[in-house]
Amino acid sequence: MKAIVITASPNDDGLTAACAQVAMEGLRAGGAEAEQVNLNKLQVGMCKACKRGWGTCREDHCCQEEDDFQPLHERTCQADVVVLVTPVYWGEMSESAKAFTDRLRRCEGNRGEESRLAGHPMVMVAAAGGTGNGMITCLASMERWMDHIKARKFDMIPVNRWTREYKLETIRAAGEALAAQMKEKPIK
Ligand SMILES: Cc1cc2nc3c(=O)[nH]c(=O)nc-3n(C[C@H](O)[C@H](O)[C@H](O)COP(=O)(O)O)c2cc1C
Repeated sequence: MKAIVITASPNDDGLTAACAQVAMEGLRAGGAEAEQVNLNKLQVGMCKACKRGWGTCREDHCCQEEDDFQPLHERTCQADVVVLVTPVYWGEMSESAKAFTDRLRRCEGNRGEESRLAGHPMVMVAAAGGTGNGMITCLASMERWMDHIKARKFDMIPVNRWTREYKLETIRAAGEALAAQMKEKPIK
């Protein structure tokens, strides 16, 4: 059973990275083969809203702007479970998380129930390392994204610098529970 942990921060040693590390530990403890990808190390540009708003995403379910999106789109769809960890910027996902999720939603959201991620359980983590404001608005937009691609909302976890210690334990536990449940009852 495959898991992918996607992060979206420029910092290798920040709160996002700490959340991703414990998610990886939990997933592996639960029996998943887990890989980690940092969107900030890839070239995933923003959606160009081709033509009059829709490009190949609508009919062909792929993006015509060639960059690192295509292989990551495929790896994400191949994963049985997905964990997405973003720092909270302005009460929203970071720019790199938004660019990737926007393009993926266009490709998979248009398939409706046939989305390649339909039923795939996901954990969303919003890491607010500043004021602690905006965790819930960030998670709300992540929840909408899961709705659009028909993913299963396994958990949505807000974390800030005051809750860091116990939330890291929670994220680890979420990863382990997710992997263990998927091992018992795979999607397909
Ligand atoms: C452009 C920008 C906007 C931010 N907006 C928020 C915010 O709305 N709420 C908050 O708690 N922290 C905010 N922060 C702080 C980040 O959430 C914090 O630095 C977080 O730890 C980043 O994760 P990292 O340590 O993994 O990079 C912002 C940071 C940046 C750079």
